[in-house]
Amino acid sequence: MGTRLSQQIVVPQTDPKANYLVHRAEIDAAIHRVLESGWYILGREVETFEHEFAAYVGVHHAIGVGSGTDALELALRACGVGSGDLVFTVSHTAVATVAAIELVGATPVLVDIDPITYTLDPNSLGAALARSPGRHAQGDYPCAFVWPSDGHASDS
Ligand SMILES: Cc1ncc(COP(=O)(O)O)c(C=O)c1O
Repeated sequence: MGTRLSQQIVVPQTDPKANYLVHRAEIDAAIHRVLESGWYILGREVETFEHEFAAYVGVHHAIGVGSGTDALELALRACGVGSGDLVFTVSHTAVATVAAIELVGATPVLVDIDPITYTLDPNSLGAALARSPGRHAQGDYPCAFVWPSDGHASDS
């Protein structure tokens, strides 16, 4: 009888419950307040969140949306990304990233990551850009390249 590799190791992609447990009392209290108020869409809770989040990240305004996918889609639309544009993003991004890019009519281009930083690998980005004939980079962008059909890149 041969040796059998029977132990299976499962590496979870994410653990959203861990974050909940850290802030459990505050989250439970907020949910309770909303349910008790009977006001489930927008309202004072969302308004308070928008003000507090804007202050936290140091900006004048924040807008609460229904989901992370909505936030990504709106950010892309705010950058003017749409049909005919290429959006370069990392290959291990959330499915929502690709969904949002496709929702605005653009085409996602998945770029490999740097093995040390796990962020977008500039060399892989260069190679991906080189495979996009007729389009030219402009500027230096930390998060993701948005590649509009008019050739002007912006970050998202
Ligand atoms: C990095 C990232 N962005 C966006 C999303 C999408 O968020 P939602 O499920 O609220 O649309 C997810 C969801 O897992 C995510 O992990």
